[in-house]
This record gives sequence, C-alpha cells and structure tokens, in this order.
Amino acid sequence: MKKINNNELALKNVNEQVTVYGFLSKKRDLGGVLFFDLRDRSGIVQIVVRDTLDNYDALTTAKVESVLKVTGTVVERENKNAKLATGDIEINADQIEILNNAQDVPFEISDNTTALEDTRLKYRYLDLRRPFLKDKLIARHQIVTSIRQYLNEQQFIEVETPILCLSTPEGARDYLVPSRVNQGSFYALPQSPQIFKQLLMIGGMERYYQIARCFRDEDLRADRQPEFTQVDLEMSYVEEEDVQTIVEGLLKKVFHDVKHMDIQTPFLRMPYEEAMERFGSDKPDMRFEMELKNVTALFAQTTFTVFKTTLEQNGYINAMVVKGLAKEISRKKIDQYTEYVKPYGAKGLAFVKMEDGILQAGIAKFLTDTEKEQLIETLSLTENDVVFFVSDQKKTAQTALGALRLKVAKEFSLIDQNSYKFLWVTDFPVFEWSEEEQRYLACHHPFTAPKDEDVDKLLTDKPHCYAKAYDVVLNGYELGGGSIRIHNQDIQAKMFEALGFSEEEAAKKFGFFLEAFKYGTPPHGGLAIGLERLVMLLTNTTNIRDVIAFPKTASASDLMSNAPNTVDEKQLAELGITLVNKE
Ligand code: AMO
Ligand code: AMP
Repeated sequence: MKKINNNELALKNVNEQVTVYGFLSKKRDLGGVLFFDLRDRSGIVQIVVRDTLDNYDALTTAKVESVLKVTGTVVERENKNAKLATGDIEINADQIEILNNAQDVPFEISDNTTALEDTRLKYRYLDLRRPFLKDKLIARHQIVTSIRQYLNEQQFIEVETPILCLSTPEGARDYLVPSRVNQGSFYALPQSPQIFKQLLMIGGMERYYQIARCFRDEDLRADRQPEFTQVDLEMSYVEEEDVQTIVEGLLKKVFHDVKHMDIQTPFLRMPYEEAMERFGSDKPDMRFEMELKNVTALFAQTTFTVFKTTLEQNGYINAMVVKGLAKEISRKKIDQYTEYVKPYGAKGLAFVKMEDGILQAGIAKFLTDTEKEQLIETLSLTENDVVFFVSDQKKTAQTALGALRLKVAKEFSLIDQNSYKFLWVTDFPVFEWSEEEQRYLACHHPFTAPKDEDVDKLLTDKPHCYAKAYDVVLNGYELGGGSIRIHNQDIQAKMFEALGFSEEEAAKKFGFFLEAFKYGTPPHGGLAIGLERLVMLLTNTTNIRDVIAFPKTASASDLMSNAPNTVDEKQLAELGITLVNKE
C-alpha cells in the first residue's frame, strides 16, 4: 500500500475516501465533535471526529503525539485556513485506529517551543518531529542527492575508505580505538580520508568522491562537531583551476536544485595575502565592504607612543573605516570593541572620528595636521566616519581588525542576509610559525604542493613559500579546502626536511604512504567541502546541530544516549587497559 502524503490532499480530492497516518499534533474538543491536526512528514491535515465513532471516548482522551490511522472522506472546508497547505479541505473520519498511545510528551512539539536545547537533545527523536528540524534533514538529503548526481555525471566514482585507521600526525587530535587482538595498539578514527584518497589516485581511480565521516577531537564551536561529514574528492592529472572548476559546477548545481538559485561562476579568486590585508581574514565575508587599510607608511614620523613602539618593532598599523556611524558608536561601545579585540591579540583599539569636518576624539590629539590630512585623503573620510586602528605585528593587527569588521557589520545590520558571496582564497602559505613549538608547521598538510616558483625557497625562505592550496569561502565561512599534492619524491623529501623531519622520522610516520609514491604516481589534487556548513548556509542556520540528526553538545557528549560513558571492567580487561584515574 502506498501511504498518502497529508499535504498532497486538496480540493481535487473532495469526495474521495482516503486513509492517512500520522501523529496527533493538536486536538480541539467542541463537544460532540473533535478536530484533530494529523501530522506526517509532509505536513498537517485536519480531521473531523464525530461522536458517532465507536471509539469516540478513547479518542477524546487520546494524548497528543499518539499515532493514528484515519480513514474518511475528503470534504471542502467551510472556514478555509490559508496558513495551511491543506487548509481548503478536511477529512470526515469514518474510522480512527489508535496505532500507539503516547504518554505526556516532555515538551511541546512545535516550532515555537520554549523547551531548552538540552531537553530537546535528550529527546532528539521528538525534536525531529518539529518542522524546523525535519525540513533541515530533508534539505540535507536533497543536497547530498544533488552532489552525487553531479559527481557521477562528471565520471567520479564513490569509494568508501576505512574508519579504523593508523594514527598519523595531522591537524587535530585523534580519536583512538584500542585493539583487543593487538593489546597496547590503537587505531585512530580518520580526521579525513586524505591519505586514502591519494592512495586511490595511485591506485588508478582517477576521480574519486565520498560523502565521508570525519572525526576530530578538537575544541568545538558553533560550526564544528567532533564527527562531521565531508564531501571529499580527489582527481588525477589536474591543476588548481581544474579542481576549482569542478567544485564551482558542483555548487552551482546544488544551489540550482535546492535553492532554485542561479549562482555566478567562476567565483572571484583572491590570494591569501590580499584577503588578510583587505579583510583581516582568510575567509572574508564579501557581502559588505568596510575594508581594512595598511596605514603603516603614513605614520612613519608619528610621535604617538603606541604606534611608534610598533614601528620600532617592525610592526604594522592597520585601519578600518566605519562609514557614517560616529554618532551611534559611543564611548561605551568603543570600550566594548576594545575588549572584543583583545582575545585576538590586540593590545588596544585606537580611534578617531570625523566630526564637523575635522578629525577629533580618540587619538586625534596625538596626530599632526599632515597625518590627519593624509588619513582623510587615503581613507576617503567624510562626515561621521569612525576610523579604528590596531597596531601590532602584521597578522595580529589584521586578524583583530578583521574580527571587529564582522562584529560592527552584524551590530549595525550591514550584511545583506539574502545574498550568497562565493570566493576562492588561493596561494596559502606553505608554513606557519608555531609559537608553542617554536618551529614551522605545515599550514595545510605536508603533502600540499608548493607553488612551482617557491620550490627552491622551501629550505631558505619559509615565510615566503606559497602553496597550491585553496579554500572555497561562502559568506565568511570556510566551506571547503584542498590543494594540489606533491607527487615528486624529491620535493616531498625537501618538504619533510623543511618541516624538520629526518628521513627516519618521515619513514616511521608516513612510511607506507611514501612507499606508495615510488611506483608511479599521477599528479593529483582535490578538496573537501564541509557538508554541514553547506547545509547550514543553504538552510539559513548558524547552529551546526540543526543540520545533524543526532548531534553532540559543546562538550562532545550525546545527551540522548549519554555517550561517552564508562564501560565494564571486563571490557577494559579484554583490551588490556587499566584506568589511571578511577572515580
Ligand atoms: P580541512 O581540514 O580543511 O581539509 O576540512 C575540509 C572542510 O571540512 C569542514 N570541517 C568541519 N566541519 C564541521 N566540524 C568540524 N570539526 C570540521 N572540521 C573541518 C570545513 C573544512 O573546510 N583532507 C583535507 C581536504 C583536502 O585537502 O582535500 C581536509 O580535511 O568546512
Ligand atoms: P594607552 O597609551 O595605552 O592608554 O593607549 C592610548 C590609546 O591607544 C587607547 O585608546 C588604546 O586602546 C589604544 N591602543 C593601545 N595599544 C594599541 C594598539 N596596539 N593598537 C591600537 N590601539 C592601541
């Protein structure tokens, strides 16, 4: 039997005898007649229940969320409800079977629910009945379907890669799984299928994709989960442009299929250094302007101690103009902004305002007339503009003002919430300096190919080595990232040397992988899109939990099943594990 979708019933069905199924979502008792809202995955239909039904009494007392089977006749409604897709009709019930009686539910199942998220996570299966979450899961399914169609058409093959893997030193911390058979040995859950997809290229698969589960034991944020899904792809015989073109085509199709929107391709490309200079971010939100400006040179002769000290330390003075908001941005607000930029490393936040045709307030008293004139000209200042400054080492000055740029834009609603602005950030640095480890680390991973012109600098000029690495950015989110990989053993050896790995260390950590490159390696590259982020952006939510059926909390636990949890002594004994700290 084919189940009818509630929301498909309309005037065209009037006089038809139908059977519908669903949850009793609402109940009104008008004495002698009950009105039920019956909810299935597709929507709601109104059922009219008269006291002539045998089980009328039971139906009167049935609790909401009970599961019903209703047989009856579709009739036109007298009072139509324009808010409901099925608002023109209702079903006159001839027979209602209670398939399952619900108890009192712990919270109201409605998009207006006031229940706390913790309660809703504990009863996630009930929360999923709310249209808000249900629609997100359906959208996720449509997105994945569209992705698969596109990649299949482009000759990609879908391959599954292992979940129980070798732990290799990559970005985040690994989740470990103890081996029972080989006590003292551990598998790691994959942070991404990176190594396997490269091995698939060496294995001759040419074009691979996978809707891949990834696991990272890292600090969680609004857009991060310990387990998440990547649309992971890898291609042989390609350069950067080829991968980017495929990804653009993929996103174009997804937006067309799911949003009925035609997005413009190719996307804008911007080198990392330019993104940092103009927007203070490697994932700039391009929906508004408010660009940053390097004004270091303008202050060469400054007497303002803060800037002077920065210049003596070869630092960077960064400025950002907030247009026309001098009156709205009060002293108190500036104090808040000053606090806001501190976690990004800024030691303070200087400002001036353009009022009554001159620069005043803030640090204006420390500026010479020439400096003021130059600022007005360079930054094209007009009445009621505010200029913020952060002076520090380049990256800190950029990042801090970049963060403030976003904050101000949000606070003053400068962002067009209905637009989608895509961007490729390209030419990432190969290395990043780790203050903690006092050495250079790989910015992406050690298999990322350097730009051809930078190969010779790998050992001699690390800060100026750039990589064939690219991120696709949408509305200020890093949607995906990838690179062309090194397929030449000499360059790979040089890269390990540059990262401070000896040959033995490299062999120990990545031996099997390096071995594979010896037997014919096609040039290859790829990318992975964060599926949850894509779904979030397409469904207008900023909470990653909204797009995952059974998500974890910020402390990486599942409130429904209470995972993670302790296990039996016996299980531990089988694994040869003794706990150091027993409760
Ligand atoms: P990367 O580490 O940049 O690249 O990850 C690719 C994309 O995955 C998403 N993402 C996450 N989403 C949710 N929760 C998380 N904890 C999380 N971490 C990452 C982001 C990110 O852009 N193997 C490489 C790809 C490649 O080089 O081909 C990789 O994993 O959207
Ligand atoms: P101070 O002399 O420390 O009182 O700072 C004077 C002004 O400069 C204050 O508004 C500070 O917030 C600001 N300031 C201090 N350090 C910096 C910095 N590194 N960059 C920009 N402004 C700063």
